[in-house]
Amino acid sequence: MSLTPQTGIMEIALYESGASSIAGRDDVLKLSSNENPLGPPPAALEAIVKAASETHRYPATDHASLREAIADVYGLEADRIICGVGSDEVLQFVSQAYCGEGYEILYTEHGFSMYPVLAHMAGATPVVVPERERVVDVDAIIAAVTDKTRLVFIANPANPTGTLLPDDELVRLTDGLPANVILVLDGAYVEFAEGYDGGKSLAATRPNVLMTRTFSKIYGLGGLRIGWGYGPKEMIDVMTRIRQPFNLSGVQLAAAEAAVRDPDWVQTCAELNAEQRVRLTGAMRQLGLAVDDSAANFVLVRCADKLEADAAEEALLSDGIIVRRPTGYGFPEGLRITVGDAEQTGRVIDTLTKWREATQ
Ligand SMILES: Cc1ncc(COP(=O)(O)O)c(C=O)c1O
Repeated sequence: MSLTPQTGIMEIALYESGASSIAGRDDVLKLSSNENPLGPPPAALEAIVKAASETHRYPATDHASLREAIADVYGLEADRIICGVGSDEVLQFVSQAYCGEGYEILYTEHGFSMYPVLAHMAGATPVVVPERERVVDVDAIIAAVTDKTRLVFIANPANPTGTLLPDDELVRLTDGLPANVILVLDGAYVEFAEGYDGGKSLAATRPNVLMTRTFSKIYGLGGLRIGWGYGPKEMIDVMTRIRQPFNLSGVQLAAAEAAVRDPDWVQTCAELNAEQRVRLTGAMRQLGLAVDDSAANFVLVRCADKLEADAAEEALLSDGIIVRRPTGYGFPEGLRITVGDAEQTGRVIDTLTKWREATQ
């Protein structure tokens, strides 16, 4: 090849998004992308319409108004926040700014699929660390650190397992990492995890911890692509140097600000999720399927083996329900099911109950 891409680029497999339609059906229930069954908050929709008439203008480059809103609502310092095109972009900022050829990025066995991609995008080497029973293993991470390690990615709650590492374990991990290793606490699902501060106390006080958040999940704005990160001022300043000045449109900024300032949205959605998650988890266990307690807006159902999961997926698809097969995450026997509203959850339970009855 005469044109040679940068190191690592050809290691990246092209992203394949999950299905969102089923031929011949107009009642499809998509539970494969951990989206919010309630959609975006009405205030965000109003803000989108209003901002749309200003699209001939370039957006703010400093994101000051959105950062102020996030800082107010979450009790943070605005100048330690960076906003990105989804939290994916913030994860990219940190890996690109601090890692490169010769460096290692650690992530765990069932970790989010973007982590190795981000390592390759930066030209760094992704290193997988085993988990213990589908939970991040702090000792295994600390043992895997070498003098080449520059970054550790952890999603808490984790995707696709939904498991949560408790605060004391996070502190132990942070304490156990060398000062030149950044710990990224990916908090895409934190609002669904009761009692967890999302890594805020660590990101606020430690010089090497970054937490990331998204508007894609509880705020129901996945289609608009907005996320943010919070960390030491020095780290935010470094990342800002590689952020494109107009990475977020005026529509994105306005929608996110309205969403974060909605006083009740997070609680309403988290309550609905908690209620339906308990119901779905209980029903799956009742059917003899294995499910860990989830702290997120999805559950990972584990069948006896891949064949059984294929059959369960087939039954769901024939009832118009799309779930995610987390085969690439090391769960060929798994079905990751987004927790929907009461009616949607009922539909999943009915379908799998009928399937179980027919096969046993
Ligand atoms: C663990 C985790 N982190 C980050 C993201 C990225 O989300 P977004 O770029 O939409 O903020 C996702 C999306 O599914 C995720 O599951």
